[in-house]
Amino acid sequence: MATLRDYRRDDLVRCRELINQAWDFDGNISHPEIAALAKDIYVNGSLAESRHYRVVEDDGVVLGLLFGAAGDGDKFPSGYGGVLGSLRVLVRLLRVRGLALREKRRWIAAINAHEVTRVKVTRRSDAELTLFAVDEAARGRGLGRQLLAEYLDVCRSLGKNRITVETDVYSNFGFYEHHGFVRVGEFDSPLTELFSGGSGETYVYELEL
Ligand SMILES: CC(C)(COP(=O)(O)OP(=O)(O)OC[C@H]1O[C@@H](n2cnc3c(N)ncnc32)[C@H](O)[C@@H]1OP(=O)(O)O)[C@@H](O)C(=O)NCCC(=O)NCCS
Repeated sequence: MATLRDYRRDDLVRCRELINQAWDFDGNISHPEIAALAKDIYVNGSLAESRHYRVVEDDGVVLGLLFGAAGDGDKFPSGYGGVLGSLRVLVRLLRVRGLALREKRRWIAAINAHEVTRVKVTRRSDAELTLFAVDEAARGRGLGRQLLAEYLDVCRSLGKNRITVETDVYSNFGFYEHHGFVRVGEFDSPLTELFSGGSGETYVYELEL
């Protein structure tokens, strides 16, 4: 039977796998070091912003994860938070071999532009869902619903009024609509464009609690 538990450090490899499966960084980004960095920004960067970090496990295998900024846990020390976290990303990017400086600057500009716009669009939020995915082979079994229901309960118990999630055209955003979230904003992100190798279309959804 599937059970929910807190994320642990030794879940990192599996969570990166799940994220890669959902957003296909290895397929979309030709440079392997940049693809690895993208997975770290998603998993470790989201963890750094989160106080709720749960995974769903069945028979010892992690099948899904949900991280949220509001929560009752301590901030997870992923090493990718705050100024030091940003510096770490910058240093990793600058150290990538076989990538022109012009391309590195493009990545740095895209990361900054994404963050600046994202903050504007999500300003109203007092709880944010930062990362959410279920293994392709395990979708449709209600695991995503379980993870989300638990997070909504935590947010309600903390007195939060509104939960926000940023997603993109490649994600399963229909799931949010099915659960009552409303699209409140859209922006074009150069970072989503680089990550996906396609459109930069990014959506912001909100749910009133
Ligand atoms: C979104 C995601 C986590 C859903 O996980 P899941 O375990 O398959 O979802 P569940 O089986 O719990 O589905 C719960 C309900 O949502 C509905 N649902 C799932 N995907 C849906 C979609 N695209 N559109 C509308 N409804 C959807 C299901 O039909 C089910 O409905 P019910 O409760 O009325 O029976 C999964 O599709 C995923 O990992 N996608 C890739 C990553 C992603 O898109 N993450 C979220 C955006 S950032």
